[in-house]
Amino acid sequence: MELCIIGSGYVGLTTGACFAEVGHKVICVDNDQRKIDALRAGKVPIYEPGLEDLVHRNVSAQRLSFNNSIEYGVDNAKIVFIAVPTPPQPDGSVDLTYIERVAREIAAVLKEYRVVVDKSTVPVKTGEKVADTIKRYNKASADFDVVSNPEFLREGCAVDDLMNPDRIVIGSNSDRATALMKQVYEPFLAPVIVTDINSAELIKHAANSFLALKISYANALSAICEASGADIERVVDGIGSDKRIGRHFLNAGLGYGGSCFPKDLAAFIAIAEDIGVPFNLLKEVQQINTAQRERFVKRVRDALWVLKEKRIAVWGLTFKPDTDDVRSSVAVDLVNDFIREGAEVTVYDPKGMDKAAEFNLVPGAKFADSPLAAAMGAEALILATEWKEFLNVDMEEVCKVMHTPMLFDGRNLFDPQTMRQFGFQYYGIGRKV
Ligand code: UGA
Repeated sequence: MELCIIGSGYVGLTTGACFAEVGHKVICVDNDQRKIDALRAGKVPIYEPGLEDLVHRNVSAQRLSFNNSIEYGVDNAKIVFIAVPTPPQPDGSVDLTYIERVAREIAAVLKEYRVVVDKSTVPVKTGEKVADTIKRYNKASADFDVVSNPEFLREGCAVDDLMNPDRIVIGSNSDRATALMKQVYEPFLAPVIVTDINSAELIKHAANSFLALKISYANALSAICEASGADIERVVDGIGSDKRIGRHFLNAGLGYGGSCFPKDLAAFIAIAEDIGVPFNLLKEVQQINTAQRERFVKRVRDALWVLKEKRIAVWGLTFKPDTDDVRSSVAVDLVNDFIREGAEVTVYDPKGMDKAAEFNLVPGAKFADSPLAAAMGAEALILATEWKEFLNVDMEEVCKVMHTPMLFDGRNLFDPQTMRQFGFQYYGIGRKV
């Protein structure tokens, strides 16, 4: 089927490439001409495992193309997906100006029946507003349906998540649109859940908030483990093996970050407030997340006594492994906490250093070109993001090159006993000291 995706960012581009991979003809539209030029030249602007190959293969097969014109996209597709950013505003609510503008732009060029699909994460009832806007601005009085189709891909494994989804949610109030959407997703062989538009919109915020809640639950437990001498890894294995609970997203660490959870929680809290049903549970989830990082900094401070003038090495800057995304990364916040207290920080990250430097996210920090170089002469080593690469580092060597071998494992990546045998003073999260 001919599909158009407006917005060639993380979600738009990966979704477009995966749709093309299963045989659809996809036009990815973006108003950033430089991005379109780069994509046409075969350059993929984000790092996502498997994406570059997918894009090249489908461009060569003429199933995937890039364009800067919404009119071209709408004219040449049956279904038009909106995948533009919905950034947070200072009060936590969602800025919907990009969505509103795209709705008007679609309306301006809409000539015959199209399904307009909202893929961006939006507050409940946005679909209604998109439909009202298109209707109001469309001079041709063309027929159309609006559908909500939230995405559940994770950065770092986006291609796999898209190609093998747990479920597809289609929020639609029209049988015609639902039938077309089912056709789009048929090749993915995934369970399809059809709901009304409002429920589909809510599912997205509710899912992300629940996952964040699981993480905060594990992090709150980790504090109790530390205070009681229990081991968080054993505790979460013990509760997570109950199928009703599940082991996923119960990893205690420095807390969640990234461009989704922090923003979506704030948005959901604001939405709930707005419709008169405050969701205080989610405020506690946020609070635990912040406290987790603060507790970790305190632990480092307690161990080093004073952070000022201390040489601290930080491994990891991205908000999670296998991505170059450093937006709302806890690792970045951590580096800045140390710098603020006067420490001399050297960082190493396999993929995140370019973006951190480009956006000046860790001013004052030095960048090292290897994990070992970062650790050289350090008085403390902090593991902030659990890249697999760090498991292949010769930790015995790291221990030797450090000034004082203190290892603070913010993601419980390493085996405490092995690290202690190497000579490290090892501190994990929720693990016995
Ligand atoms: C998240 C959701 O997992 C996706 O389903 C959703 O589609 C996406 O947001 C979105 O809304 O677009 P993402 O932010 O890419 O995906 O990454 P996650 O793997 O969910 O990790 C988020 C954060 O939670 C990371 O900082 C990670 O380190 C942290 N985390 C995750 C933990 O601290 N503990 C865990 O057990 C799991």
